[in-house]
Amino acid sequence: TYKLPYTVGIITASDKGSRGERVDLSGAKIKEMVEKAGYQVTSMEIVEDDKEKLKAAMTKLADEKIADLILTTGGTGFSMRDVTPEATIEVCDRMAMGIAEAMRAYSMTITKRAMLSRAVSGIRKQSLIVNMPGSPKAVEESLEYILDSLLHGIQILK
Ligand code: MTE
Repeated sequence: TYKLPYTVGIITASDKGSRGERVDLSGAKIKEMVEKAGYQVTSMEIVEDDKEKLKAAMTKLADEKIADLILTTGGTGFSMRDVTPEATIEVCDRMAMGIAEAMRAYSMTITKRAMLSRAVSGIRKQSLIVNMPGSPKAVEESLEYILDSLLHGIQILK
């Protein structure tokens, strides 16, 4: 049984975005895609690439039941400021790495640089958290591939 609309919280990890120096095209792309799939976006924020601030943002969305699905974009690469996967691992009760693995496997058919994404996916309480890469193109490719399959997981989590 489908109980849409489930809620989505979008977190864009970006130093430049958090300072207002870059328009958040990736967050906007996620919003557009999940709304088209029937989800309701209940939170959208830009957080600097800081592990504790990212952990706080994810924890709030899960613990206050603001979002059934938490999608992050950015901070999954090799730059010294990229800490989104580490923040995600620290807030998750249980990892669900199949989702991140599926995104990487599919993305590898588009660009071999997909192997450079350190994205992870997991569960905190009753919320599913999935990291996506930072660029709008990567977000579109990754989310398009996994979105249909997430619904079943979210339903089981309830
Ligand atoms: N995945 C898809 N589908 N398409 C892409 O263009 N870019 C890759 C990878 N994953 C890419 C992708 C690149 S170049 C990097 S460095 C990593 O994601 C990490 O991106 P991030 O640092 O923006 O999070």
